[in-house]
Amino acid sequence: MLRTHTCGELRSEHIGQSVTLGGWVQNYRDHRGLVFIDLRDRYGLTQVVFNLSHDDQMQSVARGLRSEDVVLVEGEVISRSENINPRLATGEIEIKAVRLDLLSKSKTPPFEPSTTDLPNEELRLKHRFLDLRRAAVQQSMVLRHALTKATRNYFDEHGFLDIETPILGRSTPEGARDYLVPSRVHPGSFFALPQSPQIYKQILMIAGYDRYMQIARCFRDEDLRADRQPEFTQIDVEMAFVQRDDILDVIDGLMAHLVRELRDEELALPLPRLTHEEVMERFGSDKPDLRFDMELVDIESIAGACGFGVFKNTIEAGGRVRGLNARGAAEKYSRKMIDELTAFVGDYGAKGLAFFRVGENVLDSPIAKFLDDQHHREIIEALSADPGDLLFFVADTAAVTSQALAALRNRLGRELQLYDPSELNIAWVIDFPLVTYNEEEDRWDAEHHPFCQPVAEDVPLLKTDPGAVRAQSYDLICNGYEAGSGSIRIHDASIQQDVFDLMGIQSEEAEMRFGFLLEALRYGAPPHGGVALGLDRWVMLFAGHDNIRDVIAFPKTQKAADLLSGAPSPVDDRQLRDLSIKTDLPESS
Ligand code: AMO
Ligand code: AMP
Repeated sequence: MLRTHTCGELRSEHIGQSVTLGGWVQNYRDHRGLVFIDLRDRYGLTQVVFNLSHDDQMQSVARGLRSEDVVLVEGEVISRSENINPRLATGEIEIKAVRLDLLSKSKTPPFEPSTTDLPNEELRLKHRFLDLRRAAVQQSMVLRHALTKATRNYFDEHGFLDIETPILGRSTPEGARDYLVPSRVHPGSFFALPQSPQIYKQILMIAGYDRYMQIARCFRDEDLRADRQPEFTQIDVEMAFVQRDDILDVIDGLMAHLVRELRDEELALPLPRLTHEEVMERFGSDKPDLRFDMELVDIESIAGACGFGVFKNTIEAGGRVRGLNARGAAEKYSRKMIDELTAFVGDYGAKGLAFFRVGENVLDSPIAKFLDDQHHREIIEALSADPGDLLFFVADTAAVTSQALAALRNRLGRELQLYDPSELNIAWVIDFPLVTYNEEEDRWDAEHHPFCQPVAEDVPLLKTDPGAVRAQSYDLICNGYEAGSGSIRIHDASIQQDVFDLMGIQSEEAEMRFGFLLEALRYGAPPHGGVALGLDRWVMLFAGHDNIRDVIAFPKTQKAADLLSGAPSPVDDRQLRDLSIKTDLPESS
């Protein structure tokens, strides 16, 4: 070992010892013949002092030190008596250097890993080797390791087998575009990188491996957002001879285990299980942030009878008028701020945002004059409003009122600081619809994927009222994020055929795309189901970040590029020829 200790390790009990530390130079200060540096590694910072009057060799090296140079320092641990730094774990001591080796000189870094004034993300991702030296990123990596380790331990203790499934395989239907890999040996044929291990894990159930888990890398070529990466990791789980609640119970146990291991807190179990119908009605979203209330309220009967044309016409046209109560916010939002909120809900399709400031039994608003006193009182009652509250309403289709008000609710919750940002509020949403109607293509699409088992009593509706069929599916939600998703699968080939028919997937197409699963289902398939949790999202949630790039060592940008390595990149003609690939396609018309 080149060093005796790390830079985060030394305390007053080490005073008097001779030690050797290695690390990166941070904060060089030259002070009347004494040079001070903070030496940093991922464990912490230790102050080193060089008395330069005695040693010429050390003097020239120490004076030449700059940020991010890598050095080895040998010296004596001494007390910092008067200058104790209580903010630093090693703040009671410093190293009086007797020997200094410069191991590696650094170019002038474009930003200092110790900066609190972060440069733009592009610069940080391009120099990710520097960015990864930042304490906040290092903490995320340590947390990620702890979460992965605790997850594996939990499943191991519960009899699950960790089985790897292929990265080079066939397309899996999770609704995104595939990343394709050309085969050299089979010109014109391609592998698809897995969007998830879905089909393989079902085949493992059919093969009798009744408790499977994998920390699985997934690849999806889709539009990216702060909570999505083209390459991400799932905690993937599948079980046989189970019903829905068996799977929910196992994951409840996992969540309690993680919260205990990572936060030393107890999670109350079972986690709440809310139906999809209920959360859409109460929050307008299938992944509501349950850290605060502010539920949506339907005012159909008032709106339909009132004198405000927008409300009345919407109800007559079969739409909905729904609103929410921002308690105590009447004076916090100026007219200009409400105009901003109106533009904001416009992004979610709302054509306007009606608002009322609540007084004693009356509402104050540009549209208040269209409502009589009775309606004022009814609205106040419907939203349990008190003087000083601010009420918002959107009149539109059910879908638009949901989307717009759910987004508004999240924004108001954040702006009004209605929750403790460090809280983890975890719940299940169950009974999703099996299918949603795709207007553009005039067919039913799977809400989750085409292998979800319908709720038994809804099976007869498959042929008559598909939109009303509920799936035995569930999402795990946390703080407004979808942090997991799964279902009981179809294990009966004829129901699978009915579901494919509904989705307009012809038998030949089904055979071509999922033939190997259908064939396996014909050889003795036990009832089975599972779930996949977004590992990156969970690390982000436990870390209290709002961007998954912060918890991935080498993430990709919003444009799905790796700025550090410059991937994706062109390849040379010979490689393309080997793969039988031509890239100069004519423009499609
Ligand atoms: P689903 O597609 O819902 O289900 O994915 C499961 C969970 O993975 C996370 N996730 C992502 N995280 C980061 N970036 C992405 N692009 C991304 N896409 C999804 C989410 C999501 O809840 N095979 C099914 C699971 C099953 O039925 O067992 C599946 O993949 O947290
Ligand atoms: P207008 O009649 O368009 O001038 O709008 C009067 C008020 O009603 C404004 O505050 C609008 O934001 C609001 N408004 C208009 N359309 C809607 C709608 N569809 N839902 C809710 N409020 C609306």
